[in-house]
Amino acid sequence: MNAPLPTLPWYRPVGDECAVFQHCYDNRLPLMLKGPTGCGKSRFVEHMAARLGRPLVTVSAHDDTSAVDLLGRYVLVGGETSWQDGPVTRAVRQGAILYIDEVAEARSDVIVVLHSLTDHRRQLFVERHDEELTAPPEFMLVVSFNPGYQRSLKELKPSTRQRFVGLSFGYPEPAVEEEILVGETGAPPAVTRRLVALASKVRNVEHLGLAEMPSTRLLVDAARLIRSGLPARLACRVAIVEPLTDDPEVAQALNDLVALAFD
Ligand SMILES: Nc1ncnc2c1ncn2[C@@H]1O[C@H](COP(=O)(O)OP(=O)(O)OP(=O)(O)O)[C@@H](O)[C@H]1O
Ligand SMILES: [Mg+2]
Repeated sequence: MNAPLPTLPWYRPVGDECAVFQHCYDNRLPLMLKGPTGCGKSRFVEHMAARLGRPLVTVSAHDDTSAVDLLGRYVLVGGETSWQDGPVTRAVRQGAILYIDEVAEARSDVIVVLHSLTDHRRQLFVERHDEELTAPPEFMLVVSFNPGYQRSLKELKPSTRQRFVGLSFGYPEPAVEEEILVGETGAPPAVTRRLVALASKVRNVEHLGLAEMPSTRLLVDAARLIRSGLPARLACRVAIVEPLTDDPEVAQALNDLVALAFD
């Protein structure tokens, strides 16, 4: 009997992103995903890695991330020093899909370490281990960042950006977002339709001054809570309003919209 096929992480395509990813993979081109928080970037990469049958190595970059963190270091084990690969080195060795989340948060000297991996050389220089690795054909580098994020003034330098093929993610069309909510949570259409209508309203109100708009992720969380029996308005308050704002007036305005959506 054949072994059952592993189930893919579920992903509802919203455009041509699967074809773009596949072609980048086939042509060994690195890919940059841009978009706000919670719009499906990570899920998309998990899905594509599984579809391609490649391991996925994920790294979340932040301003303390050093080249050593990414490449590897010597560690002391029982009085002996031994080399330990960092995630980037490991991913290159394994021919994995390497996903670097929030790449713009990393310092530029760290980002530069990736440059030789992103051009025709596809090489990684692991100086501390005196190693020069060439990425196997299966290796692919994917990075993400959130260009509109107001607290982050960081931008990727053109010399970095222009090494990547770019895909923009946004909030899906209402019908697609409803499908995502149903697929993720099994909530009834009467609930998912209202949640998506609520999100569209909030996304279109300009004077609220929110740092980020409600993401699909927040709607999924709210749908889950409603499906498990929490009253809809309460679910929206804790899963959507509270994560979005600490300002009591803005929260009140949002809760009013919730009350209208779930009257
Ligand atoms: N197209 C989609 N198909 C299936 N699920 C989706 C899709 N888009 C969003 N989701 C749902 O939204 C959740 C959040 O998505 P994900 O974690 O991929 O966001 P992200 O863009 O990586 O956010 P961040 O920038 O914060 O890392 C997922 O766990 C999933 O439930
Ligand atoms: Mg993510």
